[in-house]
Amino acid sequence: MIIGVVGLGTMGLGIAQVFAAAGYKVLATDAVEAARATAPTRLRAALDPRVAKGALSQDALEATLSNLHIVPTPQDLSPAALIIEAILETLPAKQALFTSLEACIAPQTILATNTSSLSVAAIAQGLKHPERVLGLHFFNPAPAMKLVELVAHAGTNAAALTLAGTLTQTAGKTVIPCPDRPGFIVNRCARPFYGEALALLEEGRTPSDIDSSMLAAGYKIGPLSLIDLIGADINLAATQGLQTALNHPRYHVFDALKAQVAAGHLGRKSGQGFLLPAQPGPPPPDAAVIALRIEATLANEAAWLLAEGGVSAEGIDQALKLGLNLPRGPFEITAQHTADKITATLAELGSKAPAHLKSRYLQPA
Ligand SMILES: NC(=O)c1ccc[n+]([C@@H]2O[C@H](COP(=O)([O-])OP(=O)(O)OC[C@H]3O[C@@H](n4cnc5c(N)ncnc54)[C@H](O)[C@@H]3O)[C@@H](O)[C@H]2O)c1
Repeated sequence: MIIGVVGLGTMGLGIAQVFAAAGYKVLATDAVEAARATAPTRLRAALDPRVAKGALSQDALEATLSNLHIVPTPQDLSPAALIIEAILETLPAKQALFTSLEACIAPQTILATNTSSLSVAAIAQGLKHPERVLGLHFFNPAPAMKLVELVAHAGTNAAALTLAGTLTQTAGKTVIPCPDRPGFIVNRCARPFYGEALALLEEGRTPSDIDSSMLAAGYKIGPLSLIDLIGADINLAATQGLQTALNHPRYHVFDALKAQVAAGHLGRKSGQGFLLPAQPGPPPPDAAVIALRIEATLANEAAWLLAEGGVSAEGIDQALKLGLNLPRGPFEITAQHTADKITATLAELGSKAPAHLKSRYLQPA
């Protein structure tokens, strides 16, 4: 089967690489001529270091490159069974692309969006065949990150979902079905990892205390160091997006994060972050209390998402381990500490929280 990709930026080129490396013929395009012209050389430059390290053979590199066919327009993707868009993150741009594609593709051709923040249903709205539209949410960098969230809107056709999921799985990814809800699984369930750390920071704990507590609990990186790595501005935008969409104190935008962005302390890209250029020191005496607090809120957000339907506890656990590199998923956290301990921790946090944050800690019925 042939795969189509529209948009040859960070994500599109990575997604094209994933399918080309798995042996699929990939037809790919971009609105910008320079992006099309440079795509093969950018792909070669991405793969050359792997050949130099001995992680990839020169033959495999050449095979991947020979599977990538750059074409001038989206209309040239019509032979594809699955077309994935990774263009500008705006609703009008994605709707216009899919509308123009519908004019030249077969009715059963699947249209997948790699959107992070838009509703898949909204993108499908107004199309002749909205049932063929679904989300395939790859993570950055797409070739390295195993996880893909497979997003169905209420009208997505089951056969389209199965085929898109199977094609993505055979390209080496772990595909987790999830509902068309803001933030899907990972971007939503990750919020308390950062949010509770920011709450602790505003209560006077040091970044080192917070992050070292999580390192002591087996996490590979602390929440504030992760904000430093990804960028405080990116984290702020993601949190604001969730807060706008879901409007609940569980997605509260903490002043400590806003101040960090206003000061230009964005983390790795600016050289100064919550911790950067420093590293966390030794864990404080109450490290286990700090870690339990953050883990209880992770478990709670996942419980809310599960209660809304369209996803399994195992799927949420796997998604967070792959997408956020957590050592254990939220439901494994609950099993480890016991549900009673999580409930008691949340109740205590709620009783001590300021009025505007109390409902952060409420559990689903
Ligand atoms: N960057 C990430 O970490 C990440 C992760 C997951 C999902 N996403 C999503 O993937 C999509 C692409 O993000 P990106 O970071 O690769 O962006 P990017 O800016 O690196 O690349 C976008 C590419 O799309 C092209 N383009 C824009 N409008 C187009 C159109 N109408 N037709 C054809 N080509 C067009 C641009 O020329 C550009 O080359 C967005 O929807 C984004 O939300 C991004």
